[in-house]
Amino acid sequence: MNKTLPTPHEIYGIDKWGKDLIVAMDNGEIGLKNPLNPSAAPISLPGILRDLDDRGVHVPMLLRVSSYLENEISHINECFAEAIQRVAYKGNYRGVFPIKVNQQAQVIERIVEFGKRYSYGLEAGSKPELVIALAHRLGREALIVCNGIKDEEFISLATLSRKIGFNTVIVLESPKEADTVIKVVKELGVEPMLGVRVKLTNQISGKWEKSSGDRSAFGMNTDQLIAVIDKLRDAGLLHCLKLQHSHLGSQVPDVNDVRRAVSEACRFYTELTREGVPLTHLDLGGGLGVDYTGEKSATESSINYTMREYCTNVVETVQYAMDAAGIDHPDIVTESGRAVVATSSMLIFNVLEATLYDAPTAPKAEAEDHHLISDLLAITEYISAERLQECWNDANFYRNELRALFHRGYIDLRQMARAERIYLHLMSRIKQHAAFDNISVSDEQLNTLSDIYHCNFSLFQSLPDVWAIDQLHPMVPLQMLNQHPDRRAVLSDITCDSDGKVDRFILADGISHSLPVHTLPENEPYYMGVFFVGAYQETLGDLHNLFGDTNVATIDLRADGGFDLLHEQEGDTISEVLSYVEFDPQDCVAAFRRMVDEAISSGALKSKDRKLLMGAYRDSINGYTYYE
Ligand SMILES: Cc1ncc(COP(=O)(O)O)c(C=O)c1O
Repeated sequence: MNKTLPTPHEIYGIDKWGKDLIVAMDNGEIGLKNPLNPSAAPISLPGILRDLDDRGVHVPMLLRVSSYLENEISHINECFAEAIQRVAYKGNYRGVFPIKVNQQAQVIERIVEFGKRYSYGLEAGSKPELVIALAHRLGREALIVCNGIKDEEFISLATLSRKIGFNTVIVLESPKEADTVIKVVKELGVEPMLGVRVKLTNQISGKWEKSSGDRSAFGMNTDQLIAVIDKLRDAGLLHCLKLQHSHLGSQVPDVNDVRRAVSEACRFYTELTREGVPLTHLDLGGGLGVDYTGEKSATESSINYTMREYCTNVVETVQYAMDAAGIDHPDIVTESGRAVVATSSMLIFNVLEATLYDAPTAPKAEAEDHHLISDLLAITEYISAERLQECWNDANFYRNELRALFHRGYIDLRQMARAERIYLHLMSRIKQHAAFDNISVSDEQLNTLSDIYHCNFSLFQSLPDVWAIDQLHPMVPLQMLNQHPDRRAVLSDITCDSDGKVDRFILADGISHSLPVHTLPENEPYYMGVFFVGAYQETLGDLHNLFGDTNVATIDLRADGGFDLLHEQEGDTISEVLSYVEFDPQDCVAAFRRMVDEAISSGALKSKDRKLLMGAYRDSINGYTYYE
């Protein structure tokens, strides 16, 4: 690797956010390390893509790495086990995975498989999620925690599942829900396992601030809590109330917020115990964050703690509070979703083409040039490192004046095209000086010059949080990292929506509005990877412009440097997405056929062209929604 050029780490900060899983290899390709076999060499990600392509699995693609999921499940369970052992805590850790964070069968099945040895359970926030949970054989001690607003059907199924050995906990969200539960379980004659959701008053900082504190949507205040306890006592069901759920939030950036909130949850737990509630489990919900940017700080897309530190803080805080109150240590439950599943998936797509915001050459002067065009062209003669800002100012001034003249009809389209080309040439000269003479041109200025790389994906389908809540994910080119990235670009998706664009990127020295990229190679694909997209992105996405699910491949990294393709899920076909929006694909074929036949009858189309037209229509309807 050329030592004089900045390394991929210095540009993209891969070593900061890559978690020793995503690395830059000497050959300039992104490599995947196997955390279950850390001494093994990384496996080239473009190599995996080439191999999958040969097998007929093409980009755009969501690549799930099973070893990463297994690693995170072991990590959270082992971090809690270590903390419990270190401080001689007397309860257990009984984590549950919140199905809403990634409901895909391939993910849930692996979570259940890898989690069995830890009695790892599932959290269901709706009837469909409970149906998923009950279709899996969990460990004997594992919990199914049912959150969210529940109707009689939901409560019946959760209660009846106790009969076949599931530890299904119905978490009461309100006094009204307590009434429904009392009614249903009396009718069924089955003892339920109950929980109560307690609203913490502690407001937690970060992007999901509003999911905590007084105004959060779920959980009961003290008054409602007392009402529920009295109702259960009166109904003879208080002995079934075993779990207190106090959801901390999501992506909590500051570990001291975790401590404060856990302390408050413990106050409720000790008071409920004093009220005579036989609690055995304290559920602290979600909140364990992911360091998307690698900054290791309490900022929106980062966290100032490790998983080990989080687990230690939780265990120590609970132990301290329970010992002070003279109460048995409860089993600790967390519903960590993001931290368990985010790292295991990456979105891969190819760049289709580029709109460049510069031009290698300027047109020559012409006699009939407007004098402002001559002024613009003259800048090419005095542009230099020392006068860069002045040239920038002049170029923008003349270009804007010329645009105004064009709008008023004083110069024609050809003259305007010459002016734009000269301007773009000046911009390329400015960019060259900025890159190679180390002249400081502000990030803001560079951003107005960044290219648009048109990429084969839909932001709305595959990265909904990037669109909706400005979530940051690490993104890098997957190849050529041993060459200087000679351009800067924003990434535009394939939907025809101006919102379908990524223009905030994690770089080594902070967040930038453009990404360093390479001039697109002539005859080879240029792949981009978006990392840590395993949480929330897969089912929140929508069908904007009717781009459907991408292909999905689940792989396992082998110790010998290869990989196994565990599962392939083909992306949606056009016919499938049409049916999601209530079109019957057969009706569409029939309607098109009628128009073709009418055209033949009227003589506008030759009979032999019928096959061609119908073939094209059918091929499309059966094809992938993305660029092939
Ligand atoms: C009740 C509940 N549990 C668990 C989670 C998962 O949170 P996270 O993904 O931050 O771990 C959420 C998400 O907000 C939630 O609402």
